Amino acid sequence: MRAQQVTSGANAGGTGGRSPGASTAAGGPGGRPPGTGTAQTPTERTAGLLVRQAEACAALASPLYAGLLRHAADDLLAGGPTAAVLEGHLSDPGRSALALRMLGGVHALVLTGRAGELAAFYPSAGGSADAGPGAELAWPAMRRALADQVEWVRAWLERPPQTNEVGRGAALVGALCHIVAEADLPVRLVEIGASAGLNLRADLFRISGPGVAYGDESSPVQMAGGWLGQAPPVRWIDVVARTGGDLTPIDPLSADGELRLTAYVWPDQAERLRRLRGAIELAARIPAELRAEPASATVARAGLEPGCWTVLWHSIMHQYLDAEQAVAVDAGVAALAAAATAKARFAHVSLEFIKGTADTPVELVTWPGGASRRLGTAPPHGIPVTWS
Ligand SMILES: C[S@@+](CC[C@H](N)C(=O)[O-])C[C@H]1O[C@@H](n2cnc3c(N)ncnc32)[C@H](O)[C@@H]1O
Repeated sequence: MRAQQVTSGANAGGTGGRSPGASTAAGGPGGRPPGTGTAQTPTERTAGLLVRQAEACAALASPLYAGLLRHAADDLLAGGPTAAVLEGHLSDPGRSALALRMLGGVHALVLTGRAGELAAFYPSAGGSADAGPGAELAWPAMRRALADQVEWVRAWLERPPQTNEVGRGAALVGALCHIVAEADLPVRLVEIGASAGLNLRADLFRISGPGVAYGDESSPVQMAGGWLGQAPPVRWIDVVARTGGDLTPIDPLSADGELRLTAYVWPDQAERLRRLRGAIELAARIPAELRAEPASATVARAGLEPGCWTVLWHSIMHQYLDAEQAVAVDAGVAALAAAATAKARFAHVSLEFIKGTADTPVELVTWPGGASRRLGTAPPHGIPVTWS
């Protein structure tokens, strides 16, 4: 039996939380598939979620995951190893991104050498075997990995997928160029929802586009073609402080942290993996403070310094704030804005979804003055940024 096709919005980011249009699966537990009068079982609903994630993976250029997830949906309906792995999770909310939790666990198996047969199909582990149309050649290996390592993968179902998208740093760097063009001062960089804090080193990335290049040519993070449109005014950016916070910060220099960050990147997305590995290399060289704290606490301790820009930055995290946190962050931003002077300046840079649209604008507000600009837009994984 083919899994039910669910065609509504996609969980794009591999982040485990809400993303626009992805808050619930069609139907939900006990719901009804469109156009029928038959109640959907939890198994059918979950198979639908796997198919929906497959559609998102296909749209975001991961044919391997798109194919594997469709097979997994069928396997779940047929009571195969996928059913054993997902047992007890069939009523998990759609926003928990169960499919990505499972895939992260399987990827971790591959990355730690526990699934050699499947590794042959995973470019992230050096595999180059042809997965076949719809990943039909890779699926038997994944099915065996699920059957052999039920408990390993089930342990990964308990963790939220958490990535740190290095590509989003391309938006931050362009905004920093605009900020420094406004007033040539050193920058104190502050990030909320920073995950592993990799983008606290974004000024050290190399980014280029038609007629423009920023950064050190030998940077371990290379984003050729990362900027399109009206290029930002490239400037030398002098970052004098790097600090961030996250509810669940990841240490990118620990073995477990590196495994987590890598496992949630889709294995056939070589450029994303290269960027991640390059950013981890930079993190080993360039320290940044990363605290376990809510966003409001990071904003509250940011302060302003004379002779500096204090730049508050965040990407694809605002949607995870509860109402209380969102209000507290807004109040903290307002307090910093009110305190800003020509000597102690403040800027707010964001790359966040606009509710109800597929738009991810790069927005900048600077104080004193409160000049607000939409600098451009970017896709969920950050590049290319199209500057306006
Ligand atoms: C989708 S990830 C984005 C991470 C990073 N900003 C990036 O673009 O790669 C969202 C992050 O927000 C963090 N987060 C969620 N709620 C938070 C809160 N109230 N305070 C601080 N961080 C939070 C999560 O732990 C997660 O690391």
